[in-house]
Amino acid sequence: MPENHKPTVRVMNVLIIGSGAREHALAWAAAKSERVAMVFVAPGNGGTALMGGKVSNVQLKATALDELLAFAHDNNIDLTIVGSEQPLELGIVDLFRSAGLHVVGPTQTAARLESSKVFSKEFMQRQGIPTACYHVYRDMSTAVRSIELPETSYPLVIKASGLCAGKGVFIALDRQEALKAIRELFEERIFGDAADEVVIEDFLQGQEASVFALTDGTCYRLFLPAQDHKRIGNGDTGKNTGGMGAYAPAPLVTPEVLQKVEKQIIQPTLKGMRDEGYPYTGFLYVGLMIDNGEPSVVEYNARLGDPETQVVLPLLQSDFIAALQASVDGTLGDVPFEMHRKSAATIVIASGGYPDHYETGRKITIADEVAAMEDCLVFHAGTSFEEGKLTTSGGRVFSVTALGHSLRESIDRAYRAVEKISFEGAYYRTDIGAKAL
Ligand code: AMP
Ligand code: GLY
Repeated sequence: MPENHKPTVRVMNVLIIGSGAREHALAWAAAKSERVAMVFVAPGNGGTALMGGKVSNVQLKATALDELLAFAHDNNIDLTIVGSEQPLELGIVDLFRSAGLHVVGPTQTAARLESSKVFSKEFMQRQGIPTACYHVYRDMSTAVRSIELPETSYPLVIKASGLCAGKGVFIALDRQEALKAIRELFEERIFGDAADEVVIEDFLQGQEASVFALTDGTCYRLFLPAQDHKRIGNGDTGKNTGGMGAYAPAPLVTPEVLQKVEKQIIQPTLKGMRDEGYPYTGFLYVGLMIDNGEPSVVEYNARLGDPETQVVLPLLQSDFIAALQASVDGTLGDVPFEMHRKSAATIVIASGGYPDHYETGRKITIADEVAAMEDCLVFHAGTSFEEGKLTTSGGRVFSVTALGHSLRESIDRAYRAVEKISFEGAYYRTDIGAKAL
């Protein structure tokens, strides 16, 4: 764009909702924008508390919708970015919009793509979007009968329909494991109401990747495809976690695969949501299984991924806030959305014992030289900064990101920074991104 045609820069106050490393990354990207005067993070974490300058924390929970709305009014918030899924499920976008405020995210009805697996599976079936074959069960005896049918093959995937913080999925290797999962969901009710409905679906072979779109309902722009590492242990072993590391761009998502993802998944998803009367706006997370170059949907999320955000946002070269504002204004097609020609990797440092029991309140030491490391960003997750002390306060504690001219360079750089951060019991995987090298 020629210099004299630059749009007038608006000075905005931004509110970010959530407390993870994803929200620290959102705050970092917002603070970089020349359009932004103030960034508030509710509730934020130790990292957002330490940013200073334009950024400050607000002691309000992500689910305290009425208080958040009052805060937004009182502080002249021009744009709210919803990081986590719970406020979306509770209808924060509907509430803010009805009060005349600009907010990035889907309405409660549209957020069902994430908050109800039954809705999302039935939607994909109606719209002909590729996904695993499935059945829905609303009581235990019918579910048990279904796995006793001779044609049942394993592994079998059993999912609670509602939100379970990423823990509501069982991959059963045999009938006994399937029975145990069904019992835990329907009888022991380990996820409560979230498992009133249960989806049982075929196991998909292949490799996983995540593609993120920002959309105004019609037009969409894509971030670089990323790959998460969900298991706690090296070599993708052990329990599922919220995500132990990520990298982007994921070479698995070739231009040909991406074209199929757009044509067969993203475009029909946005069109389907419009046609069915609940246009989808905000960030759309498409969790993919790619088998021999053919993508299918493992899950949708109604937000950006964590830890994927910590790699895809630093790779965005264009002004993030300008794009978000355009998505709210319905002019997303008119703004630049350019990526750096680099790679990024992020390594999650967790508390020992995560994803099961872990201790908090451990004192954290970050070597001074980390702040000076080139192309390196330390995003905090479960940290708190009080009375001048930084301590651990959650399972995932940091997400350490580095950029590089190659994936190898970004991974090595990220690990060099990780080694300079310490607290008792700190744990991280040592093979993030290795699959792609
Ligand atoms: P979800 O919460 O639906 O993303 O599921 C969590 C994880 O379970 C996914 O990231 C996959 O690794 C795995 N998963 C879920 N559904 C399937 C499936 N149909 N086939 C294979 N793996 C699956
Ligand atoms: N990285 C997985 C998620 O955000 O759900």
